[in-house]
Amino acid sequence: MHKIVQLYEGKAKKVFTTEDSEVYIVSYKDDATAFNGEKKGTIAGKGVINNLVTNHLMGLLESKGIPTHFVKELSDNETAVKKVTIVPIEVIVRNIVAGSLSKRLGLPEGTKMSKTVLEYCYKDDALGDPMINEYHIAALDLATEDELKKIAEYSFKINEILSEYLHDLGIELIDFKLEYGRTSDGTLILADEISPDTCRFWDTETGKKLDKDRFRRDLGDVEDAYKEILKRLLGK
Ligand code: TMP
Repeated sequence: MHKIVQLYEGKAKKVFTTEDSEVYIVSYKDDATAFNGEKKGTIAGKGVINNLVTNHLMGLLESKGIPTHFVKELSDNETAVKKVTIVPIEVIVRNIVAGSLSKRLGLPEGTKMSKTVLEYCYKDDALGDPMINEYHIAALDLATEDELKKIAEYSFKINEILSEYLHDLGIELIDFKLEYGRTSDGTLILADEISPDTCRFWDTETGKKLDKDRFRRDLGDVEDAYKEILKRLLGK
């Protein structure tokens, strides 16, 4: 499988067409941004780690019945994925209060909640990905009622699978972001990535942040945190 035309370059990935009209190649970059691109930097080795971690977790999810875009790992930083049209919604799943929820509700990070929270953001960089609800999604035709039902079902199931898996590796899944896409036949599948860029991972024992918050907040040890996640998940 080969890259033919670059379709898109995002903040952390590039997407290419291939000789197969239903398959794209994703190439992960070391570039890192935060606060909607305001803060820029590089995290050495991030592209490889996010690619390997994403594929590992998508494989786990597939084995538990979640349909994903994963096709084949082509190299350390490139993966063949099913061609999809991305549903323009970022789905945030929260188990423990952190980040923007902590700010919005004035609750300290680490506050436990009695239930898992699902949030939706409208995927639009120019607007800074504003939060929306089910009514906006229906009114703006961002997803059908059936799709939104599946998105919520899959997201809660993904949370259960990942939380349990990571907990056994000494990692608490605090919150994370998911994106879904539609294949050409209209099937809804999980797309994008699941990595330290898109999840909050806290060490179970020490509470140390092992994710992109180290970059966002200038906490240091950024590369080491990404490497630690790779080591715990893939043993390398
Ligand atoms: P937040 O607390 O900043 O809203 O972030 C919630 C989760 O979503 C966190 O795990 C990080 C992830 N996230 C992304 O993947 N992309 C983004 O652009 C943002 C803001 C958050």
